[in-house]
Amino acid sequence: MPDNINGVAWTSRRAIVTGAGSGIGAATTAALRALGASVVAADIDADSAEATAERTGATPVRLDVGDSTAWTRIVDEHGPFDIAVLNAGIATNQLRPDDTLPVLGLDDERYRRIMSVNVDGVVLGSRAVLDHMAATGFGDIVVTASIAGLVPIAPDPVYGLTKHAVVGFVRSLAAAVDNHGEPLDVTISAVCPGFADTAIIDTETKDRITENGIELLTPEAVAEVMIRALTERRNGAQWVLWPGLDAAEYAWNDPIAGLLPPALGGDD
Ligand SMILES: NC(=O)c1ccc[n+]([C@@H]2O[C@H](COP(=O)([O-])OP(=O)(O)OC[C@H]3O[C@@H](n4cnc5c(N)ncnc54)[C@H](O)[C@@H]3O)[C@@H](O)[C@H]2O)c1
Repeated sequence: MPDNINGVAWTSRRAIVTGAGSGIGAATTAALRALGASVVAADIDADSAEATAERTGATPVRLDVGDSTAWTRIVDEHGPFDIAVLNAGIATNQLRPDDTLPVLGLDDERYRRIMSVNVDGVVLGSRAVLDHMAATGFGDIVVTASIAGLVPIAPDPVYGLTKHAVVGFVRSLAAAVDNHGEPLDVTISAVCPGFADTAIIDTETKDRITENGIELLTPEAVAEVMIRALTERRNGAQWVLWPGLDAAEYAWNDPIAGLLPPALGGDD
């Protein structure tokens, strides 16, 4: 791995990783620290953020990604950031089969919660860091989406909704960056992993996944693709990872691609 990207040394980068206390966020924090970046490890669970920080040499903060005031405070106190890994996420915990259709079993509180973490967390986080990136003209945002942002996920349709939402946000914001009046060296991209061996999936569901012959990705394998997204800096890309396949950019079969002008998000 080179010690710089386009002449910008990793050691000069300042990153915030959300959901850094566990799984993919913890592994991404470790990977960024290993490259020499300084990292703020943010999690709603302060103890887990501290544990990651202690292991990796990051700075721990407690952050609920759905709280815009908290974002402002953390950027003021710990920023500015030229890397944001917007990774915190939850599922509706309905992944077990039962007699009820998943949406019917979802109470209001859980619904609002998943929208707050998975959708608001990405929008509020992007807004909080973009100000500085737009002012300096440089920076990278990587969002942890999922293959559930590209294909259906029958056991958890609302999780699928949130991940499709952030994929749409990434693609649209990337188009806006491309069409900005002042050229910006800013990228926003999404990483879309298959099933990974983390706490978001309970043991019973993990067993069901593996019994179906699907291997679980390690958090470290996902973190490697996070670093690839930050290294290749493909604005608007969605990086797909599935066990046994090389990580690749997702390609849309878009019948209206040529019809939309670039200023509205179409391709050149
Ligand atoms: N594990 C998978 O199979 C898989 C697959 C594709 C995508 N993802 C996505 O990867 C991301 C990371 O999840 P993971 O698999 O590492 O799970 P995880 O449960 O191990 O980690 C998620 C972390 O997010 C934190 N978090 C939850 N709500 C928060 C909030 N409001 N503010 C800040 N932090 C909060 C949790 O405390 C936890 O530390 C999620 O966005 C998830 O949807 C996971």
